[in-house]
Amino acid sequence: MDKLVITGGKRIEGEITAAGSKNSSLPIIAATLLSGSGTFRLHRIPDLKDIATFRQLLGHLGAETAFEDNTLTVSTARVESVLAPYELVKKMRASIYVLGPLLARFGHARVSLPGGCAFGPRPIDLHLMAMEKLGAKITIETGFIDAVAEHGRLRGAEIDFPVTSVGATGNVLMAAVLAEGTTTITNAAAEPEIEALCQFLRAMGAEIEGVGTTTLTIRGRESLRHVEFENIFDRIEAGTILAAAAITGGSVTIRGVIASHMEAVLRKFAEAGCRVDTTEDSVTLQSTGRLTATSIAAEPFPAFPTDMQAQWMALMTQAEGTSEITDHVYHERFNHIPELNRLGAHIEIDGNRALVHGPQALSGTKVMSTDLRASACLVLAGLVADGATEVLRVYHLDRGYERIEERLRSLGAKIRREKYSEFG
Ligand code: EPZ
Repeated sequence: MDKLVITGGKRIEGEITAAGSKNSSLPIIAATLLSGSGTFRLHRIPDLKDIATFRQLLGHLGAETAFEDNTLTVSTARVESVLAPYELVKKMRASIYVLGPLLARFGHARVSLPGGCAFGPRPIDLHLMAMEKLGAKITIETGFIDAVAEHGRLRGAEIDFPVTSVGATGNVLMAAVLAEGTTTITNAAAEPEIEALCQFLRAMGAEIEGVGTTTLTIRGRESLRHVEFENIFDRIEAGTILAAAAITGGSVTIRGVIASHMEAVLRKFAEAGCRVDTTEDSVTLQSTGRLTATSIAAEPFPAFPTDMQAQWMALMTQAEGTSEITDHVYHERFNHIPELNRLGAHIEIDGNRALVHGPQALSGTKVMSTDLRASACLVLAGLVADGATEVLRVYHLDRGYERIEERLRSLGAKIRREKYSEFG
């Protein structure tokens, strides 16, 4: 198993190009199941464990993939299975994204029920509700979702989501693009990753109106074609690197990210006392040496993203005053708090609200990762803690950050990856 050993006190400074977005890559890779017309070439795909897992899943279905220099080529011409097995779905919840495209193209899908995760049950009832609206007959048996298009082909429908769901929006989009007739989705997720999926589907020939808004209208087509596509940059990885500069009193420019994808986060960095400058394809953050406690409430886009909540909490341990951090998306996404408090932070939990009292000097020790963004939070804390911080179980981090220690080291961090054993 790997751990990261971080020696705090180094400023994060310099320039870097953001990585490709994980959360747009996953639905886009699933969407290649919609067309067997030829080989897709997908650029700026991040080199992550989740991408490797998705390749395994596509291979299991019969697709052929290759991955080199962040370009993923996919051919789903020879897909003959519609079964997504437990062993793979268990490793990555986003495997549920194959449900929509398999149903749309083959009229049948058999997907293992995804497990929960460290910060909550992660239900998929909205995915299933949407597929049933499109005419799928869903049965749950022996831990599997078995979905069959009752009339052989899905049919367009009106779908209203009571809760904004990125995954359910992506899944139903990929089902509707080949359905017979028109589908309208209201209260759809408008995250940049869903917008990127819509652009990808439109490049494949899909007819989608309202891209980037919470109301999407899809006119189903008979077939779609393979395409070459450039993935968007990862606004969460970028936000994490900006937080590394802010927490260490540094200054960093990130190339590639679209500032409008990060507006709520950039506004909060400025409110907390950082200097933030943007161009149409870069963001620069300069620390002013002082951080002011700044409260956030994580909600669907364009509000502050839940995937930056843990990273913000690490930053607020160094800010003057008390900041209130609320997560309206995942009410229990606070597994990072006990570990931050072990580093010397003073954070209280009250339901889905945390109170961070700062500034608190942190001192390095061993801490345990529990999920992807909690791990990123602990790395940020390690960058400012006195002495050495050891972040264990970094396999969580490797799911969503491409070679994070190399990228932070290139910006001045003193950080290295080491093997270790948890059994004596
Ligand atoms: C996506 O997860 C992201 N993952 C998550 O990022 C992100 O935290 C989340 O969206 C919210 O932005 C990927 O894109 C691969 P949701 P997803 O459906 O689609 C409830 C990361 O760190 N809900 O938008 O699973 C759910 O419980 C990961 O990169 C239902 O009730 O999230 C939650 O409260 C972590 N029923 C809310 O909706 C459903 O059927 C939002 O979940 C589906 C969701």
